[in-house]
Amino acid sequence: MMDTTLWYKNAVFYEISVRAFKDSNGDGRGDLRGLTEKLEYLQTLGVDCIWIMPIYPSPLKDDGYDIADYYNVDKTYGSLDDLKELIEAAHQRSIRIVMDLVLNHTSDAHPWFQASRSDRNSPYRDYYVWSDTNQKYKDARIIFLDTEISNWTWDEKTGQYYWHRFYASQPDLNFDNPKVQEEMLNVARFWLDLGIDGFRADAVPYLFEREGTNCENLPETHIYLKKLRSFMDEHYPGRILLCEANQWPEDVRPYFGDGDEFHMGFHFPIMPRIYMALKKGRFEDMAEIMRRTPPIPENCQWCTFLRNHDELTLEMVTPEERQWMWEQYAYEPRMKLNLGIRRRLAPLLDNDRRKIELANSLLFTLPGSPIIYYGDEIGMGDNLDLPDRNGVRTPMQWDDSPNAGFSINEPYSELVKGKLGYQNINVASQIDDPDSLFNSIKRMIAIRKKHAAFGSSQMEWIETGNPAVAAYIRQHEEDTMLILNNLSGSAESMMLPKKFQQNYLDLFAQQKYIIAENLTLQPYSYLWLQMQR
Ligand code: BGC
Repeated sequence: MMDTTLWYKNAVFYEISVRAFKDSNGDGRGDLRGLTEKLEYLQTLGVDCIWIMPIYPSPLKDDGYDIADYYNVDKTYGSLDDLKELIEAAHQRSIRIVMDLVLNHTSDAHPWFQASRSDRNSPYRDYYVWSDTNQKYKDARIIFLDTEISNWTWDEKTGQYYWHRFYASQPDLNFDNPKVQEEMLNVARFWLDLGIDGFRADAVPYLFEREGTNCENLPETHIYLKKLRSFMDEHYPGRILLCEANQWPEDVRPYFGDGDEFHMGFHFPIMPRIYMALKKGRFEDMAEIMRRTPPIPENCQWCTFLRNHDELTLEMVTPEERQWMWEQYAYEPRMKLNLGIRRRLAPLLDNDRRKIELANSLLFTLPGSPIIYYGDEIGMGDNLDLPDRNGVRTPMQWDDSPNAGFSINEPYSELVKGKLGYQNINVASQIDDPDSLFNSIKRMIAIRKKHAAFGSSQMEWIETGNPAVAAYIRQHEEDTMLILNNLSGSAESMMLPKKFQQNYLDLFAQQKYIIAENLTLQPYSYLWLQMQR
C-alpha cells in the first residue's frame, strides 16, 4: 500500500477559474456554489484534485493574483462558509482542493500597502521594498514585458520607488522583514485550518532581492520555503505545496530540497517541447529536456501540463525556438503575449482530434502528475478579442443553451465564438457520447490510475529507428507499459529492439497486441501497451 500522504504522486489534477466555471446565483459570474454543483462532473472525469485560482478579495487588476485581503473570499464567489461546503462536498467525492497562495506580492489596494505608502514612518513601510533610486537590482528581468517598463514605480507622496516583479499594481512584499514571513505563515494556517489540501504557491522564485543577482531562486528564498514546509508537515501532514517556478529543470530541482521543500513543481520546459514535437514530427526536443531533468526525491513529484490560465509561456526555450514557436503557433500578432502565446489547446492544435488526443497521451504518460486546464477536456476554444489572458478564461461550456449553460444571465465575459464556441463544443453533447474527446480523456485517466507505473519517476526511452515516434517504457515492479506516440502526420513504421518484440495488452482496446518485427503507427496515433509475461 502506498503511503496516503503521497497521494499527489498518482493524482490527476484539474485547474479551475471559479469565476469561469459555473454561476449558481445568476449574477453572471461563477462562484463556489456553482463549482460545488459541478463536482459530480469532475468526479465522472476522474479528477483527484482541483486547483482553484485566487478567490480572495481583489481589485482584479491581475484576475485575483492582486490580493487585497488574505483572510476572506471575494463576495462575488460567495463566502467562507461556501468554501467550507465546497471542501466538504469535494472530500466526500474523494476530490482534494488546493488553492493559490500568493506570497510574493499583494494588491496596491491591500491595507498593508495603503499604510506603507501613506508615510515613510508607517509601521508597514518595511512590509514592501522601497528605494530612493530605481537603479537597484538591474539584473532582474521584467516579466510582464508587454505592459511594464521597469520593476520600480515612483510613489509621489512619499518620494521613493517601490519594487514589483509583475504589474505596478502588485507591489512585492519584503521577505527580509521577519513580520512579513510570519504574516504569510499565518495566512497559510488560516486556509489549512479551513480544510484546504494545500497550495499552488505562486511566483516563488522572486521572494527576495539581492544586488548583483537576477533576484530569482536565491538561497534566502529556499530557507523561507523550507520553513513553510516544515510548518505544514508539523501541523498538516498530507497537505501539499506545489511550486510555480517557471525555470529550467536544474533550477527547479532545489525547490524540492531534500524532500523538505515543495512536494510538487510544475515542469515548465517539457510543455512547449510537446508542441514542438507535434509540429516537427520529432521527439528529440522532448527527450533532450527529460534527459536534462535531474532526479527528484522519492516523496516529490513533477506536475505536467499542456495549458493553463496564463499564456503558453516560451521562457524555457532558446530565442530561436521561441521565434519558431511564434511563427508556428502565433501566426497572428494578437496571439502573442509577453514571451508566450495566449491560446487554448484545441485551437493551438488546429482542432484536430488526433493531435489533441496525442498531446494528452504524452501528458498522461510522461513522468509527473498531469493537470488539465478546465475546458480542455472537451476541446473548448478561446476568444482572441478579449485582452491579456482573458481569452483563455471564458465561461465553461456546459451545453448549447444561451450563455453556454454557465449562467442564466449574461456572463462576465464574452463567450468563445465560432466553431469552438458552446453551440458546437459543450459538456452535454460529449458526456454520453463514447466517441467524444471528453470520453477519450476520461479513459486515459481511468487507465492511468490503474497503473502505479505512471506515477513513478522511472522512464526509459526506446530506440525505434524512427525519430517521429516517441517510444518509452514506464514501469513499476512487475507492471511494465510500453508507450508509443506517432508525432507525425504520416503513417510511420518502426522496429523495436528484440526484447520488446512480444505480447502485450492494448490498454484501450483491452485486446491482445503482438509486436513482431515491424510495426506501423497511423498518423498522430498512440498506443499504451502492457507487457504480458
Ligand atoms: C500567475 C499569473 C499571475 C502572476 C502574478 C503567475 O505566475 O500564474 O497568472 O499574473 O503569477 O501573480
